[in-house]
Amino acid sequence: MKLKFSLLGLIFLLLTFMACPGMAAPPPAGKFFLVGLGPAGPEHTTLKALETIKKADLVLCHPELAVPFQTYLQGKEVFDPWKELWVNPEKKNLKPEERRELLAEKEKQRDEFIKQMKVRLSQGQNIALLTGGDPTVYSRTFWLMKGLDDDAVEIIPGLGAITASMAALKRASTGAKARFVLQTAARSFLGKTDPDDLARNLSKYNGTLVFYMGLKEIDNLLNTLKKYNPGDLPVAIVYYAGYPDKEKVVKGTLDTILAKITPEQEKWWGMIVVGRCLAGPGFEMNE
Ligand SMILES: C[S@@+](CC[C@H](N)C(=O)[O-])C[C@H]1O[C@@H](n2cnc3c(N)ncnc32)[C@H](O)[C@@H]1O
Repeated sequence: MKLKFSLLGLIFLLLTFMACPGMAAPPPAGKFFLVGLGPAGPEHTTLKALETIKKADLVLCHPELAVPFQTYLQGKEVFDPWKELWVNPEKKNLKPEERRELLAEKEKQRDEFIKQMKVRLSQGQNIALLTGGDPTVYSRTFWLMKGLDDDAVEIIPGLGAITASMAALKRASTGAKARFVLQTAARSFLGKTDPDDLARNLSKYNGTLVFYMGLKEIDNLLNTLKKYNPGDLPVAIVYYAGYPDKEKVVKGTLDTILAKITPEQEKWWGMIVVGRCLAGPGFEMNE
């Protein structure tokens, strides 16, 4: 008798689930993809990155970055998260207290945004946050994603500006027996307390220095390097690495490069490479 009742109960439950799909198990959670697009449009984007965009329910992307990817974004829900959330406090000339407040306010807004993203993920949606180059190098996307569990995130690697730049230079960053390749930003290299420390200490070694975001501070950077390195140390600048119509390479030395780039207007899209690797050889048989 008892068994009969339990069986009837089970059948009843099953029928209820079938009749009310709202009561069925929730969909599997979606993923938050951080997608590296490479340095210069779809030609340099991996197939995996393009596939990820295709399967995304929501694409988060700065409008400028979206321009060369229009074909892949058609029919997609695309949203620019930076417009509301991002601010550069350096540009605002703020007092320390005002700066702290502004940053705290932005973090609050970001946390709210991430809450909304989590709701979408729990509904089974896939979200793709697009970024240029290699997403793990100098990318503000990591600020945006704060609060998401690692388990919810997948990073799709992208070709970095460093790789496209070395290709444009036709040199190996590890060439000429370089003992290291240093990726840095001008501002990080010229530390706050002792701006010369890295230049002074690293000049003891044969290495390759690669600078992101360095064009605005190039005078300062070169003057610091010149104090500790010979003037004939090779330097190259690659503007718009990877862009078929805009890429430009300027080569010189610590002594000559500044004069050579005087006519250049571009102050953002350029990589500065310093080191003997620029003169080669790229690799030797006995290495
Ligand atoms: C915020 S960082 C982003 C770097 C990016 N995640 C990467 O891996 O290439 C921006 C800086 O990267 C460099 N950069 C990015 N794309 C570039 C390109 N196509 N050509 C030259 N420099 C580039 C510039 O130095 C620029 O100021």
